[in-house]
Amino acid sequence: MRFAVLMDPIESIDPAKDSSFVIMLEAQRRGHEVYTGHPRELYTDGVRVGARLFPVLVGRGTPHFELQEPRNVYLDEMEAVFMRKDPPFDMDYVFSTYILDLLDGKTLVVNDPAGIKMANEKMYPLRFPHLVPRTMVTRSIVGLKAFLEELGGRMIVKPWDGNGGRGVLLLSKDDRNLNSLLEMSTSDETRHVVAQQYLPDIRSGDKRVILIDGRARGAILRIPADDEHRGNMHVGARVESCDLTPRDLEICDALAPSLRRDGLLFTGIDIIGGYLIEVNVTSPTGIQEINAFHGTCLEAEILDHVEQCVNSGKKRLRL
Ligand SMILES: Nc1ncnc2c1ncn2[C@@H]1O[C@H](COP(=O)(O)OP(=O)(O)O)[C@@H](O)[C@H]1O
Ligand SMILES: [Mg+2]
Repeated sequence: MRFAVLMDPIESIDPAKDSSFVIMLEAQRRGHEVYTGHPRELYTDGVRVGARLFPVLVGRGTPHFELQEPRNVYLDEMEAVFMRKDPPFDMDYVFSTYILDLLDGKTLVVNDPAGIKMANEKMYPLRFPHLVPRTMVTRSIVGLKAFLEELGGRMIVKPWDGNGGRGVLLLSKDDRNLNSLLEMSTSDETRHVVAQQYLPDIRSGDKRVILIDGRARGAILRIPADDEHRGNMHVGARVESCDLTPRDLEICDALAPSLRRDGLLFTGIDIIGGYLIEVNVTSPTGIQEINAFHGTCLEAEILDHVEQCVNSGKKRLRL
């Protein structure tokens, strides 16, 4: 099979941590041809969707890849296209999903571009009100302060389009910087923010669960550094092994039908203290860490699923 992996430049990834990289490695091990390129290379001539892509060989040595001469490839000639670009989820990202939409029913795209476009990582959980902590999404500073009061004087405020912990604030009502922080985070009430009940259980970790086709396949715990409230690996969180609790499985079961319907085959959800915080659909990661702790090979499970779709003639993940 021929697989195209649309992602950030392969030279910029960390081969010891990157999930797209192990998907490529496993695809190559299975004898598939792998192409890679940035989604900015996508185009359509009005009839077909193409991109300038590099045939690539990957390996565990240094360097971790070898690119061949780029060539123009029509994506309907691929058996599957993996959309694995990292956020920011900006208009450029959205636009690339509009181009990929044109492959609908012609080539399997993982995750489904319609699903990616529709599933904001911090808003998707709110479809399941019984699984999320108390949350308010607004740009009104008066509204945010009233919510802070209601929550007993402490809350989290974060940008709806952030990632890696950027701009996530732990606010308290007696902080004299409060007004200023709310003005900054809402850009003077011109941008919505997500305000949330602060979950003290974050001290024992922010759990990342990987789901494949709606099934929980493994998890890791990210423990915030002592001088941090954020449990993101980018800001120094420590990674630990963990198991899936009945509550985690309950959350995954609740999400599964919706993830399947939206064609979100490979997702990573974040859980703090038994509450669903985020549903990552663009380029979820964590499979190398989970594999290392649990001896799994999650990339093989993803590829099993993709191969099965291809072999049965299924060209769209969305139901
Ligand atoms: N409701 C919350 N209670 C406690 N901590 C939170 C909460 N929401 C976010 N955080 C903290 O902020 C970090 C990042 O938040 P998250 O919502 O996952 O945004 P990002 O997309 O930036 O990772 C979490 O790991 C956690 O430490
Ligand atoms: Mg997160």
